[in-house]
Amino acid sequence: MKNIELGNITPTVVASFDGLPDARQRELVQCLVGHIHQFAKDVRLTHEEWRAALGFLHRVGDISTDSRSEFSLLSDVTGLSSLVDVLASDPSATPGSVLGPFHTVGSPWMDNPVNLIAANEGRPVLLRGRVCNTDGEPLPQATLDFWQNAADGLYWQQDPNQPTDNLRCQLRMDAQGGFEIATIRPVPYQIPLDGPVWADLVGPAGLSGWRPAHFHLVVSAPGHHSLVTELFDAEDPYLESDAVFGVRAALVGRYAQQTDPAACARHGLPGPDCLVMSIDLRLAPVAPTP
Ligand code: BEZ
Ligand code: FE
Repeated sequence: MKNIELGNITPTVVASFDGLPDARQRELVQCLVGHIHQFAKDVRLTHEEWRAALGFLHRVGDISTDSRSEFSLLSDVTGLSSLVDVLASDPSATPGSVLGPFHTVGSPWMDNPVNLIAANEGRPVLLRGRVCNTDGEPLPQATLDFWQNAADGLYWQQDPNQPTDNLRCQLRMDAQGGFEIATIRPVPYQIPLDGPVWADLVGPAGLSGWRPAHFHLVVSAPGHHSLVTELFDAEDPYLESDAVFGVRAALVGRYAQQTDPAACARHGLPGPDCLVMSIDLRLAPVAPTP
């Protein structure tokens, strides 16, 4: 008989997972069990609190679908997604930031430079930059996956009034590793308010749930770690209080009045009114396998 009591329950449960064949999975599971047990001991978790927590997780699962993951949102608002981004970021490369729920694979490939404005309302802007390695050398073989929200704050998947694939594309860099995207200035928006993450956690905490305006980017190049990141607007009022903790200083850009009228004209943008954000995106090399 194994007499389970406070003094032996944690090591007994941890050891019960010794048989997991994958060493990393074993490490993750055993460490997690240890931390969860310690948490319950620290706060002297009661039956009522434990049942309430399970009920919350049930509701998080119930509202999740293939196209809407409330679990991702829970990870986002508790800062876990952002912490994993920070842990994975190479200090000499551009920092990563949250992928968010509105990335979908298979964005249309378009020619670089590209104009995504079409029928979108909003302030025309030019996002331009260069993809390079951590020594600053251009990576012309890099590709970019880009998406953002429209002037109403919604991504195309959320809004039946937007055409399919509105304000998203994939691009190949030019010979200098450069890209130019004529688009509209993204706007701040709130995380979903119709689920338990808002109703039971973020709302009751008195938080606003707003994310500062941003562009989303996934940058890839052979021999380099892919970069999932966001670019923020230095004038945004929510930079201090991003609901998902994704803002990093190196990812905040300031729009400048376009000083190169030829670049505006190339996109049919009104010269003096055209705002430009410029950014260098640095990718870390994949370490050679020994
Ligand atoms: C987004 O950036 O699209 C996003 C990220 C986390 C939660 C909701 C939206
Ligand atoms: Fe977003």
